[in-house]
Amino acid sequence: MNRNLALEFVRVTEMAAISSARLMGRGDEKAADQAAVDAMRSMLDSVECDATVVIGEGERDEAPMLYIGEKVGTGNGPKLEIALDPLEGTTVCAIGASNSISVMAIANEGGLLHAPDTYMKKIAVGAIGKGIVDINETPTENLRRLAEVKKCRVNDLTACILDRERHADLIAEVREAGARIKLIGDGDVAGALACCGERGEVDILMGTGGAPEGVIAAAALQCMGGDFQGILQPRNEEEIVRAKKMGIDDITKVFSIDELASGDVMFVATGVTTGTFLKGVGFTPWGAFTHSIVMRSASGTIRQIKAEHHFDTKPRY
Ligand code: FBP
Repeated sequence: MNRNLALEFVRVTEMAAISSARLMGRGDEKAADQAAVDAMRSMLDSVECDATVVIGEGERDEAPMLYIGEKVGTGNGPKLEIALDPLEGTTVCAIGASNSISVMAIANEGGLLHAPDTYMKKIAVGAIGKGIVDINETPTENLRRLAEVKKCRVNDLTACILDRERHADLIAEVREAGARIKLIGDGDVAGALACCGERGEVDILMGTGGAPEGVIAAAALQCMGGDFQGILQPRNEEEIVRAKKMGIDDITKVFSIDELASGDVMFVATGVTTGTFLKGVGFTPWGAFTHSIVMRSASGTIRQIKAEHHFDTKPRY
């Protein structure tokens, strides 16, 4: 994959982030999401590639744009697969809370798991925890193992967990084990990314969130040398059938990071609202500031891009 494509893709998430950030705190999730979708869709057309959306806004009959199977890009250039979420954390954006991002993971054909839109039990850690944690172990044991390799006490560790009723037992166990907890309202892709943060604000992500977000997070951690494991958690028979249709026969399977995102993987994300890893969009009299991250697994390069966008010279904004 041409490495310069990464910079083309970050323009896409920048534009989606700016468009949805205009609607931050306005209490309208749908409008914020639609703004991100429209911007991402139109910007993707200018990228020189022949890409297929494998994780998107839903099935073809549910989503008019960026649906699973939709062709994007100019149609020339490399054949790619894209997993995208124009606005990850719609609710947090709508209430002006932290950690909403615009995000895409890109790989060569066959590089991304075609995950159904169901739930996934997840565990994510940064590079130091790679090969150490095991999703089938108890949270207590995983925290103990992580503390051992980090040469710290369990109560120095911070677990990021989605604040959901279904996590009551998990939260109780992590508290009992003595670790700190960062409960997030939404946005577990950003939560997974935070495991690789240099300030140690988050050490591990645990719990159940969206399966599509699991694939996107795995792509990010693949670029950062971290680890991610996931097990699908279908809510009903229909979701099991859908998973099978997508080629997943064993619904209890533990997906390793390499099974979720493999080969030459790119990850790009732009902050919409400020979070642990990325700053949100700031508007100025002349335009806007954005903060993005661009990563490639092939080189391991991680670029943070702070951009100034001057609207008078960029009529598309
Ligand atoms: P959306 O951006 O689609 O609203 O997803 C936000 C999110 O919090 C994800 O980060 C997470 O994986 C999922 O929702 C959790 O689902 P639920 O809100 O149903 O618990």
